[in-house]
Amino acid sequence: MVKKAELHVHLEGTATPALVKKLAAENGAELDPTTFKSDGEFLWTDFWEFLKCYDKAAAAIRSKSDYQAVTYDYLRRCAAEDVIYVETFSSPDHAATAGISYEDHLEGIAAGIDQARLDFGIEARIIVTCVRHLGAQSALKIADKFVSSPHPYVVGFGMGGDEAMFHPKDFAPAFNLVHEAGFSTTNHAGEFGGPSSIRDTLNHLPVQRIGHGVRAIEDPALVEELASRQIPLEICPGSNISTGLYKNYEEHPFNRLMQAGCVTTISSDDPPFFATSVGNEYEKVAKAFDYDDQMLRNITLNSINAAFCDDDLKQKLISSL
Ligand code: ADE
Ligand code: ZN
Repeated sequence: MVKKAELHVHLEGTATPALVKKLAAENGAELDPTTFKSDGEFLWTDFWEFLKCYDKAAAAIRSKSDYQAVTYDYLRRCAAEDVIYVETFSSPDHAATAGISYEDHLEGIAAGIDQARLDFGIEARIIVTCVRHLGAQSALKIADKFVSSPHPYVVGFGMGGDEAMFHPKDFAPAFNLVHEAGFSTTNHAGEFGGPSSIRDTLNHLPVQRIGHGVRAIEDPALVEELASRQIPLEICPGSNISTGLYKNYEEHPFNRLMQAGCVTTISSDDPPFFATSVGNEYEKVAKAFDYDDQMLRNITLNSINAAFCDDDLKQKLISSL
């Protein structure tokens, strides 16, 4: 099987309905009954409902050891699909809402990574994220914490949430703080926002990658810029199809972006919400665009080259391909 690497996945969004229910039961936490459909899967209808459902499910994660369990469980599933490296987003805002400190949530995730490395040989690192719709002040608070409480597994800073809220320039103080401390950054743009959302991100934030970025396809000059600057795109086709952006894999712009010279990578975003996995995304993309294993290996190589981890780890991952 082709080895795989993932750059864009939200840790709280990796927990399966079964794990969410198990953690809630162990914690005596009452889950909002609207979290699940009658078949037990997560209940949401559109992107904004998805964000709310994500918050409801994340509320079951109540402790450092819960973060460890969620991380370990996800990396176990990844390793079973020959994923060798995962860069996961973590959300200190979700942790804080559940009463977990910044330090504890990172230590929990790190313990899950260590345990998964020992058991399955998989590697992972953390991108601390802020939530765009919570506003610039919340983002700056996370960035402050990021800089004042470094952790060896934290390799970058990012932003998710509702792209329609606020303007990228509002978040420049947070992103600049982290950038000036020597870290790489990425922002969700061109998922639900159009090409201008990507342009605004490139113009106002010191990003090294773009989360999604797929709606660049609507602006050929922007595609050309992304290609000539070789700014990697963290593409999550199944997520985009589930949230209604594209009808199916064949109509997804992944291949057009790749053919135009963009650095394309494959990720799962929030796998149980979108009924997917990294392995499934590789498989569906390969089938839709008739990619052979060498093409898929090149996509993995793109991901490793675009990863925010240190060069020694990248070399180790590349030599294992
Ligand atoms: N948070 C979790 N998943 C997300 C997504 N796909 N877009 C924006 N924010 C998110
Ligand atoms: Zn995302």
